[in-house]
Amino acid sequence: MASLNLADVTARFEETFALSLAKRQELARYIPGGYSRHPLTFGPHALYVAGGSGAYVDTIDGPRLLDFHNNFSASICGHDHPAIRAALSEALARGFSFGNPMPHEGGLARMLCERLPSVERVIFTCSASEAGIAAMRIARANTGRNRIAKMEGGYHGVADDYMMSMHPFPELFPGPATQPLAVPNSAGIPRHVQDNVVILPQNDLDACARILRAQAHDIACVVMELQAGAGGVIVLERAFVDGMRALTQELGILLVIDETITFRAGYRGMQGIYQVTPDLTILGKTIGGGMPIGAIGGRAALFELGEAGFVYHSGTHHGHPLATAAGAACLTLLDEAAYARLEAMGLRIKRELNSWCAEHDYPFVIYGIGSHLGYEFCDKPGREYRSCRDILRYSNEERMRLFAFEMTNRGVFPMYRGQIALSTAMSNDDITVFIETAKRVMEAMRG
Ligand SMILES: Cc1ncc(COP(=O)(O)O)c(C=O)c1O
Repeated sequence: MASLNLADVTARFEETFALSLAKRQELARYIPGGYSRHPLTFGPHALYVAGGSGAYVDTIDGPRLLDFHNNFSASICGHDHPAIRAALSEALARGFSFGNPMPHEGGLARMLCERLPSVERVIFTCSASEAGIAAMRIARANTGRNRIAKMEGGYHGVADDYMMSMHPFPELFPGPATQPLAVPNSAGIPRHVQDNVVILPQNDLDACARILRAQAHDIACVVMELQAGAGGVIVLERAFVDGMRALTQELGILLVIDETITFRAGYRGMQGIYQVTPDLTILGKTIGGGMPIGAIGGRAALFELGEAGFVYHSGTHHGHPLATAAGAACLTLLDEAAYARLEAMGLRIKRELNSWCAEHDYPFVIYGIGSHLGYEFCDKPGREYRSCRDILRYSNEERMRLFAFEMTNRGVFPMYRGQIALSTAMSNDDITVFIETAKRVMEAMRG
């Protein structure tokens, strides 16, 4: 049997989702490209949906897809959860946009402070990108320093300062692995911003120490995820994270942990799993229960300058009642048992697919902590990924695309960038469907 090839699989994808393409062409007259989020592009174009419920989304083209995308991991309870809908209805009934605070915001803030020992105070935004901007400002104000440091392969939203050295394209990761250079991922970023960002290599404590020690006098914060997501899934190792915590403390640099995705890893986020205490935490995605949100939390002392009016923070819809009500409903659903179930589903996928690959000597690996997993078509089963440069080194981009399209053609929707996010709406049968479909697609790819 001939193996699947990218041209045929793409042709079937385009045929199956032809209405989405037509919709994109129609709407591109008003919105450049047809939609406002560039990363929604899934191969040739995004798939428009009419709606979603539970573990499924219904495309306008007809096919119902088992959703392993979940809005880039945000929809941890799946779609249209009745408890979240009820919280939204309650908030809607009161009116929903005032020049006054509403109590909903406080409810979500209390839940976050109770869950995360490092978070004594929290401020809401409408997105994690804005929370990332607030984190930089708070860090600069409290340290009197200008520059920020971030990991190569780390994504923290769309602010100019963070749009550096994010995704694994060779041209974006110049310089030796131990001394990466800051390269913008977008046109339009001023040179002076680029010069203000220090790039650090993942999981290389000696190199990070050398880079930070040389410039510590002007570095306000190190921003990092404990498991990198959008720039490619890389789990930071425990010893590396402990080392970074000690190093930043010693150098008077604030440690900002971005838990926008990793908060879905456990009841106290990934900082709870690692038992690490950051100075500031960036949150987003899951804490909004499907509504637009971001938050910045941390030690109370770091918010005193803001409370006194010296650090400005505002946004017309920050702490919005719909988002904070939905977020509180979502977190109420996410008790310890819910995280345990999500983790067990993730473990099952990793165990069954990785052992199948080992048995069949298939060069594929799926890995990560909790319910947001990365997968790569690589050079051998079980390949370890310790930094984003390993993605360039070992991964096969064409096979990644072929797999994502063919999974979608067969009714299972992963993230295009080689990741999946599970939801509490999934059943064990849904996990079986994912595992078996992945095996069948891999077999067909081999021919
Ligand atoms: C780790 C991380 N930080 C920040 C952001 C930005 O979040 P938002 O899209 O809500 O601005 C994202 C989005 O994917 C993210 O993954």
